[in-house]
Parts: sequence; structure tokens; C-alpha cells
Amino acid sequence: MKDFLCFARERVMSPLLKARYPEFAGMGFKVLAKEWSISLQRQRLFCARMLDGLEDKTVLVLGCGFGDDAVAWLPHRPARIVGVDIVSYQKCWNEAILHFSTPSTCVDFMQRDLVGEDWNFIPENSVDVIFSYAVLEHISDLATMSERAIKALKPGGLFVATYGPLWYGPNGDHTFPLSEEDYFNHLLLDDEDYDRYIARTMDEWSHQEHGCEGPFLLERGYFSFLRPEEYLRVFSAAGFSIINSLLNISGAAERYFRKYPERLAYLLERYNLKTLDLYSNGSVVILRKA
Ligand SMILES: C[S@@+](CC[C@H](N)C(=O)[O-])C[C@H]1O[C@@H](n2cnc3c(N)ncnc32)[C@H](O)[C@@H]1O
Repeated sequence: MKDFLCFARERVMSPLLKARYPEFAGMGFKVLAKEWSISLQRQRLFCARMLDGLEDKTVLVLGCGFGDDAVAWLPHRPARIVGVDIVSYQKCWNEAILHFSTPSTCVDFMQRDLVGEDWNFIPENSVDVIFSYAVLEHISDLATMSERAIKALKPGGLFVATYGPLWYGPNGDHTFPLSEEDYFNHLLLDDEDYDRYIARTMDEWSHQEHGCEGPFLLERGYFSFLRPEEYLRVFSAAGFSIINSLLNISGAAERYFRKYPERLAYLLERYNLKTLDLYSNGSVVILRKA
């Protein structure tokens, strides 16, 4: 654990960033980073080190999509990997099971709503690691989901989550516009103009491949609408210890508000935000059950 924290601090806590975002002092994030995250490989390695290897362990992957971020745990040879998603990607999951299940690792996938349904698919106190990538920003009731997650974990178990774009940051609606000029449309435009923007984005989307993003998520309302600090409060309230929490600052947001300072002032007041809420595009957290 010490290795991990030193590494993160060394890389990202520049005096320049701290001076630029004095609000940081009042926030619960241990690390403030600019355009930087912790690789998923490093996160998996960290879990393996913390738990003295994963050989006899169970890893639960939330919002696993096609299943890639579930099978990515295989090199650590956990006893069991369970991937869960609200959407069934059964064809991909079947292929993953066929190709990746080994005598030492059982790979399972399930279609479940992590918010709308009980977690009766996994016994309490049975999971060593819960992992999610690009999912928590889509969880409409993160408090309920976090309570279920902590129940599913064994004491000492870890929940490692990378999430973003965050709703109040650039591209918070996951429309991934081609132009940075459109990054805050979801907060600025009135309903009619936003509908027109979405129609235009849909055209752009037909030329891109982003899997389960943008319009798909908007249509279903899969957003948590939480500010960066609110996530941390939810995790703590559920009973997690926050081992590390990293907040990433977006260069695109900096460029945008340098160009349109009046929009910054408008959005801060309209949504009662802190500057960092508008500049943040993602977080990585490492949580532990005592
Ligand atoms: C942006 S995708 C990320 C998928 C995958 N983790 C990856 O990185 O490729 C978000 C995923 O969360 C899933 N999701 C959203 N809300 C969910 C819920 N309530 N229960 C289970 N899965 C959910 C979506 O179906 C989608 O597959």
C-alpha cells in the first residue's frame, strides 16, 4: 500500500496545481492529478499485493459490459471471477467463458441490475475484490449499491473503482462530441437546444464506435449526477475506509473556461458548484471494508 501512495503523490501533487485549485485543500481527495490516472493493470497488481495474491480469491466485476475487464484478472489466477451487467452480452460472455475459463479460474457472467435488484447472486462476506471501470457514474442510487457492495465483501476486502466522465465535468453526458466547444452543452443548453444537439451527436455516433455510451445511457437515464466529493461521502456512509482517492483535472475544461469565463461563473451559480466540479473528469478510488 505504501508503494502505491508514494507513487501517486510523487507524480501528481505539484505545487502549481495546488495553487491553481486552492479549493483542493477542503476536499477529501488525497491526490489531485492533471490528465493522469492509475492504469488498470496497476490497480489489479495493487489488489494482488494487498491480499497476498489472488489465487484462492473471488473477484466481482461490476458493469462488466462485454466482459473484457473481467477476464483481464486472469493473469492473477483468482479462483472465481464474476462479471455482472444490467445488459446481457451473453454472446460475448459465452465466448469469454469458452476461451478463458481454466482449471484454476471459474469465469461467470450474469445479467443483473445492481441497483434495482438485491444482490442475491453473491453471498454476503464472500468477495475479496470488487472492481468497476466506467460504471459508478452510471449508478442512479450509489448509496444502495455501496451498501450491497460492502455486505458482499469479506472483511479486509477491497473495492477499486475508476469512474468518469463525471456529470458536472466536460462531456459529463458521455456524448463524446467531436468538438470541445460542445463539452458542457448538457449543463448549458435549454431542453430544445439540447435535443437538437443530441440529434446532431447521434449522426456523429453512427460514425464512431463507443460501445455502450452516449445516447444509449442518456435514453435510459443511467447517471448518478453526483459531484466528486459526494461520491466520497457515499462510500464513507456505507462504511468503507477510503485508502486512496484521486481526482483528475481535465485540460479540455481548462481550455474551455479560459475561453468562456462568463460560462464558468454562470454554471457555478446555476448548479451551486465548486470550480473543481466543472474541471474534474474522473476519479479512481481504493476502498476497504474494515
Ligand atoms: C461505460 S460502460 C463500461 C463497461 C465496461 N466496464 C468497460 O469498461 O468496457 C458502463 C456499464 O455499466 C452498466 N450498468 C449501468 N447501470 C447498471 C446497473 N444498474 N447494474 C448493472 N450494470 C449497469 C452498463 O450496462 C454498461 O455496460
